Amino acid sequence: MDDLFGDDPPAEPRREELGEGAVLLRGRALTDEAALLDGLEAVIAEAPFRHMVTPGGFEMSVAMSNCGPFGWVTDRRGYRYQAEDPLSGKPWPEMPDVFRDLAEGAAVEAGYPGFTPDACLINCYQPGARMSLHQDKDEHDFVHPIVSVSLGLAAMFQFGGMKRSDPVRRIPLLHGDVVVWGGPSRLFYHGVLALKDGNHPKLGARRINLTFRRAQ
Ligand code: SIN
Ligand code: FE2
Repeated sequence: MDDLFGDDPPAEPRREELGEGAVLLRGRALTDEAALLDGLEAVIAEAPFRHMVTPGGFEMSVAMSNCGPFGWVTDRRGYRYQAEDPLSGKPWPEMPDVFRDLAEGAAVEAGYPGFTPDACLINCYQPGARMSLHQDKDEHDFVHPIVSVSLGLAAMFQFGGMKRSDPVRRIPLLHGDVVVWGGPSRLFYHGVLALKDGNHPKLGARRINLTFRRAQ
């Protein structure tokens, strides 16, 4: 019911503009929670999380997997998208319909109709894991946005600008939040601060992030 008497606290904004072309849709994934977690479990059973190595030889603190036609990988040879999981030599698991539908729907709401992801990177953060500031630039065409879905423990997302040295905004991302960035902010630097310890009722001591992209 509406707040007729004006004594309820104002509802938290469900939509927040983070900059030109970048939108936070708070709780957007919550209605799909059960199906998303089922999909995640099925994908990870086929393509388990693993710690990849950067071209410089450092093991990433975030464990990763992928689903969809292409998966993002890193090893001593570089960063790239490829159709096969290097662990199994087989194609990455199919992208669950609920993943694709959520990514496409969120993109429409953020002003990017026609986004059809062909890659979903799945990041698994355990307490202490972090992702330093970087640009997503291994994709073929930057006309397509990035759609990022947060599940599990809350994390502090950093969202900067076109230069690594630009001021960085810190945005707490909670279970069910979706961030979409594209257009003028498509190549903005972003990262995640070290995950704090905690226990999420559905995912335990973990944060899972699904990053949808059009790789090709
Ligand atoms: C990423 O940039 O790939 C991950 C972002 C996040 O975990 O929120
Ligand atoms: Fe990224």
